[in-house]
Amino acid sequence: MKVVAPAKATLLLRVLGLRADGYHDLEALVVSLSEPYDDIETESIPGDRVELTVEGDSIVPTDETNLAWRAADALGGGVRLRLVKRIPSRAGLGGGSSDAAAVLRALDPSGEWAEGVAAGLGSDVPYCLRGGLARMRGRGEIVEPLPGGLAGLGVLVVVPPFRLSTPDVYRAWDELGGPRAVREIDAPAAVRPYASVLVNDLEPAAEAIEPRLRPWRDELESVVGAPAVMAGSGTAHLVLTDGAVDHLKTQVMEHFPDTEVWAATAVR
Ligand code: C5P
Repeated sequence: MKVVAPAKATLLLRVLGLRADGYHDLEALVVSLSEPYDDIETESIPGDRVELTVEGDSIVPTDETNLAWRAADALGGGVRLRLVKRIPSRAGLGGGSSDAAAVLRALDPSGEWAEGVAAGLGSDVPYCLRGGLARMRGRGEIVEPLPGGLAGLGVLVVVPPFRLSTPDVYRAWDELGGPRAVREIDAPAAVRPYASVLVNDLEPAAEAIEPRLRPWRDELESVVGAPAVMAGSGTAHLVLTDGAVDHLKTQVMEHFPDTEVWAATAVR
């Protein structure tokens, strides 16, 4: 069986506070993207083992620390997984959670067991099971699908060569005393029924631990002539417009040779 695991764009991320369990309460508006995406093939094998091969990204583990491996194991194993990675790691695009959800969908299409194990695999996995446009609350596991979608939205996804670990960024947010984002970007018309601004409360924390982030974003914004919001815990940035973003992709590729860039649309 072959399944696709799409990247996730966080259009709005409010971090409300640290919880007793070490996670953070949040409120987010998220959407699946047409690009980048990972491909996953599943094949039954005898016994209850999980075998995993990963292509396209040499730093992604192939053992039980990989969420796709854990998703297959949680559903009883007996499966060989072939994962073709295109979603950059440690970029805030939710690749690992999306891979895990795609494995759950492939192995349990009815969702009978998948929904029960999703939240235990990671905060974003319940959302990724369904994907599309949604609001997330709690630590992320409370998902409200928004069936209207974001027709006509163009999303430029730009990933710098430096990356960040999600726990490090949340820890920095705690150490800074729980800052709110200082920047608010007017939302494009397609997003306005759901949010008037694009904002990410993790931006000050990510900038505090990765000093290259802010000058890189300033340069990106001047090259595309539009504001960019950080994706999730970073370091990817998103430029959102009503209409296609292909011309912006060309500009970014010419200016930043060591940057990964996709011209995507929102997927319902
Ligand atoms: O749930 P998941 O394993 O994907 O989360 C990864 C890390 O991100 C957690 O260990 C935690 O440090 C941080 N996190 C958080 N609050 C959330 C979601 C994630 O602090 N709501």
